[in-house]
Amino acid sequence: MTANFPRRGVVILISGRGSNMLALIEASRTLQSPFEVTGVFADKPDAPGLESARRLGIPARVLSAAPGCERAAYDRALAAAIAELSPELVALAGFMRILSAVFVDAFEGRLLNIHPSLLPDYPGLHTHRRALADRARRHGATVHFVTAELDAGPAIIQGAVPVLDGDTEASLAARVQRLEHRIYPLAVRWYCEGRLQYRGRRAWLDGRPLEQPARMDDDGEMH
Ligand code: GRF
Repeated sequence: MTANFPRRGVVILISGRGSNMLALIEASRTLQSPFEVTGVFADKPDAPGLESARRLGIPARVLSAAPGCERAAYDRALAAAIAELSPELVALAGFMRILSAVFVDAFEGRLLNIHPSLLPDYPGLHTHRRALADRARRHGATVHFVTAELDAGPAIIQGAVPVLDGDTEASLAARVQRLEHRIYPLAVRWYCEGRLQYRGRRAWLDGRPLEQPARMDDDGEMH
């Protein structure tokens, strides 16, 4: 599909299934999308999302870390490979390597991540398990700008769902993911339309710093 305006290039990094990657690709293929996905990189050769991207005609490359390879050396190589595509934005979508300042600095202000919790709650791993163990009543996902501090960059939009009696890790994860697939394309669209920016270590939307991230509920309503 060709648009009659230039679309901004987005590169996606994955380590696994890539369902968020697919949501972004799908959103990019609508007539009015301000962005196109120009490449996918994975750090694991067996990431199932690689094949899904290729089937959709998106160039997808593996860049695995050689044994003993220093983090900074890997990050420099990855940054250089991505820079060849000159993307406007880099979107982490289930990319399971921690990226060092070498990488984050190279893409400062144009690097997004989606994290499966309502940050600042539950940074790190096993977020659904931890929310269930705490008997949390609300849980969700956050799209945020990436800074060198893990899962701590300015939040842009959150998708919030109720935690239901009888939820398992899998049922809760599935409910959260349905919203992930809506909020991530929305944040990328805002960025590529020029509505969303990173300035002075804060996220700005429509010319104002975000005091709170935008919020989407289970029913798709924005708050
Ligand atoms: C998602 O839950 C996302 O929040 C987290 O990693 C998971 C990736 O899932 N960062 P998928 O590969 O996009 O299905």
